[in-house]
Amino acid sequence: MKVIILAGGIGTRLWPLSRTNYPKQFLKIKKMARSIFQMTYERCLKLTDHQQIYIVTNINYKFLVVGQIEELGHQIDDRQILIEPVGKNTLPAIYYGVKEIQKQGDDITVVFPSDHLIKDEERFINTIKQGENLADQYIITFGICPTKPHTGYGYIKPKEPLQVGNRVDQFKEKPDKETAVNYLAMGYLWNSGMFMFRTDIFCQEVKEYLPDVCDAFKSPNILDIYDQTPSVSIDYGLMEKSKNVAVIPLDVHWSDLGSFDAFYDEFDVDEQGNLNFDKDILIDSSNNMLYSNKEKAVALIGVHDLILVDQKDALLVCRRDHSQRVKEVVDRLKELN
Ligand code: GDD
Ligand code: MG
Repeated sequence: MKVIILAGGIGTRLWPLSRTNYPKQFLKIKKMARSIFQMTYERCLKLTDHQQIYIVTNINYKFLVVGQIEELGHQIDDRQILIEPVGKNTLPAIYYGVKEIQKQGDDITVVFPSDHLIKDEERFINTIKQGENLADQYIITFGICPTKPHTGYGYIKPKEPLQVGNRVDQFKEKPDKETAVNYLAMGYLWNSGMFMFRTDIFCQEVKEYLPDVCDAFKSPNILDIYDQTPSVSIDYGLMEKSKNVAVIPLDVHWSDLGSFDAFYDEFDVDEQGNLNFDKDILIDSSNNMLYSNKEKAVALIGVHDLILVDQKDALLVCRRDHSQRVKEVVDRLKELN
């Protein structure tokens, strides 16, 4: 089995912790010993040999990838780090990995994002391995039992059962709130963002639904490829269209730390519901998240449901229920620069 780790995203909803030149998967978040990328890499080692792991990342993150793997005491060959000159979202990144894998022949491949926290690792590994039973026929997704009508995830409607898991009736990426509420009532699962397939089947599907990506990859030059390929995610580009999708339920504690709101579920809060990373002063304040800068004293009085992230060169103050909108700040900053 081969593994592709996607590590080229920029994690805009965690600004100003996550920055374009140091995105969330590589961050050493306070209270966590390792970065999420490092945890992902170590998890993959429980699934397969290190020589079977391919990392697709952006040119700007190559040294972060190498440095963080070495910090874990592991080595990685240059051939296993695939460098994209520019991010074109997840489908070209996965296809790049697949094309590299195919140089050694077709194989079952599993794709992992590098922005997930997962507990219950043993169960996780066992569930992923079950996918191998379906890989001759299907592109396999791993479905999480949803807890709220989150609009930042893909939704999967299972139909008839297979030898393991189910066939997929519908895959819908990032629905609006109203649709998500309906999906929850109808028994849809969240797409965990992990996929498994045989490389030959995956390529057939890309050829059918995304011929432009296929054509771009015919060029021998990676700069030309990335100049020509459209920017498209696997979810919108392939999973919503493919007719050969299966889903295996993944019953583990899972979080994509997609926005600051997700931090409340991962770290301990105090009796007033505050998530206070730096022992800042809180008076008559509840349900706030404070991630501040040691060089400054920070105090809140009579403040509720607020996210405050204070970094040397940037300060974010955001209502908790608006945390998905933080990426708008990054868009605005890009316009200004
Ligand atoms: N190499 C590379 N190049 N990696 C990328 C790129 C790129 O251009 N864009 C994103 N990634 C990486 C990210 O670093 C992350 O690890 C993974 O691909 C997924 O991308 P996200 O941008 O984080 O996707 P998402 O969270 O909005 O949505 C996906 O994940 C959800 C679960 O976390 C979808 O698959 C959803 O359907 C799913 O529910
Ligand atoms: Mg994500």
